[in-house]
Amino acid sequence: MSSCLFSNVRLGEDTVDVRVSNGVIAKIASAKTLAALPGEDHIQDGWLTPPLAEPHCHLDAALLADRAPNHSGTLVEGIANWAAIAPSLTVQDVRDRALTTAKMYKSWGCLRIRSHVDTECPVAVEALVSLKPDLAELGMDLQLVAFPQRGILRAPGRQDAWRAAIDAGCDVVGAIPHYERTHDEGNASLKLAFDLAEARGLMVDVHCDETDDPSSRHLERMCAETIDRAMAGRVVAGHCTAMHSYPNPHAAKVVALVVESGVQIVTNPLDNSVLQGRYDNGPVRRGHTRVKALWAAGASVGIGHDSVQDPWYPLGTANLVDAAYVLVHYAQCSGLAEMERVFRTLWDENHRPFGGAPVLAEGKVATMCWWPQSDARMLLVHRPRPTIYIAGEVT
Ligand code: FE2
Repeated sequence: MSSCLFSNVRLGEDTVDVRVSNGVIAKIASAKTLAALPGEDHIQDGWLTPPLAEPHCHLDAALLADRAPNHSGTLVEGIANWAAIAPSLTVQDVRDRALTTAKMYKSWGCLRIRSHVDTECPVAVEALVSLKPDLAELGMDLQLVAFPQRGILRAPGRQDAWRAAIDAGCDVVGAIPHYERTHDEGNASLKLAFDLAEARGLMVDVHCDETDDPSSRHLERMCAETIDRAMAGRVVAGHCTAMHSYPNPHAAKVVALVVESGVQIVTNPLDNSVLQGRYDNGPVRRGHTRVKALWAAGASVGIGHDSVQDPWYPLGTANLVDAAYVLVHYAQCSGLAEMERVFRTLWDENHRPFGGAPVLAEGKVATMCWWPQSDARMLLVHRPRPTIYIAGEVT
């Protein structure tokens, strides 16, 4: 095993020297106090962080933008185009695209991925479940959310397919309440999701209120279910864009419920920057969840890349820093402390669905990213590839 000295490197809030030996962090000392040993790799300056984590993506649909182009750019056409192409997909096709996409994530420093998988497409479920050992060999974790893209109550058979995806190896129960036929059926779908998760001891991750409709009020139901079932820390609500359009008094009530319940909000700025406001003639709403209000209240907020060149979003390279970069614009988080928080989210709050961020301390495994700058603003400016260490080895 190799040995490496990082001199004058940022680690957390400190600037220190870090020696990695035999795959673990052997020593952390004051900056510029350790000398490189003969033959030891020596890196100076920069920032050591845990690897990044992706809390929300769709590996089954990734890299389909050419085969299922979205001409209108709307969410509705994206769903329709995916539904049209999904029956023609093969296990091998889904595996190949998902593996390529996962390697893209890894190349940008991300070693944990939570992917939704459409439960109406059993081929996709089979492919992604079978991909877990492949990603483990790459040093990556893959969690799968059983995601009923077109709802579980809108048509016969969808609920059975959703349950079958859990039986087939999905780890997390998904739902899409705002896409069910009525508000009541949306809340009924949430009850079914929480029932299933509670019965199986699973987590919940819902595409929740991804609409500009201010009357889409499923997030408060998610919070209530989470409180009543004591599931704090095991529930994620993704998107929550309707919150942008809630009247302020109602938004304040919901934000407080989010904090009380321990539900994590995952925002997906790349997709929602192009998908929201499509029914507006002007002014066009940003249609983004209220990140600053959630932060101020003490809520946990994660940042997902979401789509990678798929029927909903034609761009993206699986670089989570790009999602952070857009969030800085989209949520107006351009203050220095805000940019720092946005960047840090990628390697702290984004690990929450996986049980928390790895700790970089003496005696811990040296699986981490080294960034060439120690300043979040400059990392957002340049968005460089980090050097990735898995158990002390560059990968
Ligand atoms: Fe999504």
